[in-house]
Amino acid sequence: MDKLQITGGRPLEGEVRISGAKNATLPILAATLLADGPVTISNVPHLQDVTTMIELLGRMGVTVTIDEKLRIEVDPTTIREQFAPYELVKKMRASILVLGPLLARYGEADVSLPGGCAIGARPVNIHVAGLQAMGADIHIENGYIKARTGKARAGRLKGARLVLETVTVTGTENLMMAAVLADGETVLENAAREPEVVDLANFLIAMGAKIRGAGTDRIVIEGVERLHGCSYEVMPDRIETGTFLVAAAITGGHVRTKNTCPAYLDAVLLKLQEAGAKLAQGDNWIELDMRGRRPKAIDVRTAPYPAFPTDMQAQFAALDAVADGVGTIIETVFENRFMHMLEMRRMGAEIRLEGNTAIIKGVPKLMAAPVMATDLRASASLVLAALVAEGQTVIERIYHIDRGYESIEEKLSGLGAQIRRVPGR
Ligand code: UD1
Repeated sequence: MDKLQITGGRPLEGEVRISGAKNATLPILAATLLADGPVTISNVPHLQDVTTMIELLGRMGVTVTIDEKLRIEVDPTTIREQFAPYELVKKMRASILVLGPLLARYGEADVSLPGGCAIGARPVNIHVAGLQAMGADIHIENGYIKARTGKARAGRLKGARLVLETVTVTGTENLMMAAVLADGETVLENAAREPEVVDLANFLIAMGAKIRGAGTDRIVIEGVERLHGCSYEVMPDRIETGTFLVAAAITGGHVRTKNTCPAYLDAVLLKLQEAGAKLAQGDNWIELDMRGRRPKAIDVRTAPYPAFPTDMQAQFAALDAVADGVGTIIETVFENRFMHMLEMRRMGAEIRLEGNTAIIKGVPKLMAAPVMATDLRASASLVLAALVAEGQTVIERIYHIDRGYESIEEKLSGLGAQIRRVPGR
């Protein structure tokens, strides 16, 4: 397995191009299953999770091709089976996103239940309950969700008013995708407001769907007979943007992130300012300047959008680990999302954990150590910590990073970091 070797101590300087958003690309690829013809998607990031979703579509018989401009063309009409096997779903929970589209378009779907996950239980009960309320017949058999629509309605789901018990991003997306081809109107109450939900809605609208209210907690979908092919460009990745801005702040550097969208990062930018960073922004860029200054400790509480994202929590923990003062990080979205804290302690961070709260007392210097990536965002925080640690840190299990960060070592070395991938056996 590959490792990353990072020698800390260099302030990052320069410009970095932000990739398309992983969490928008995955539902959009799943949503192509709804179309009657080929769909072209651009600004798709080259990531392991995206490869897994493409593999899943391919396994079902869908034709996926990549053209010379790195656009992905998906022709869903060649589909042979509505089946998502365990060996792919276990690699990536977001595979569950094919459930809604398959059921809406073909009246049947067999999708493996995602297993437990390193960051908590992460159930899919809300996805299942919503589809049942839309008339689906669902039972769990041998670890698979077996979903069917009744033959009486010619295989179509029926619109319903769904009040989601918890704000869930992929749950909202799955139900929105199911509703676009249902009979009548569906109302999603307590819907997730994440920008990726809005991007998916815009993609569905480009295929002919009727959706109002995406980006608010009440989404209204009027089912249509069919959806047609279209071309669509995926939004920029706000979490990758935030990660590079923290990388600049933690190293006392000066970095401009390009091809991004500042409006999606309000809560994160506010915290960076509190930490003492100077920020400038334009339509599609954000620049952070922290030269000659040590970050101030900040408090963070994660919650659904537009509040502070759980996917940026680990990166800010790394920032607090070397900041001036004591910062508190409260994780309210997932239980058990603090594994990076234990690894950072091995690098000299002073962190106390009390349930879902981490109390971090900044130290002037972290020390290099061998550490292990445990999940996607946790691994990003270890990279950040290594960028300021004294000596050479070796990070193992970096396949977690490759799931969500495109060419991380090229992008960081482009900003002056000393980082090297060591191919494993
Ligand atoms: C998505 C993101 C992930 C991000 C998370 C929260 C994708 C592919 N992934 O994950 O990067 O960290 O949103 O912003 O977009 N829950 C239930 N029952 C359900 C569904 C969820 O109880 O049926 C709970 C979860 O356990 C969790 C909370 O709801 O505590 C939020 O999870 P959810 O928004 O569903 O996360 P994902 O969509 O899996």
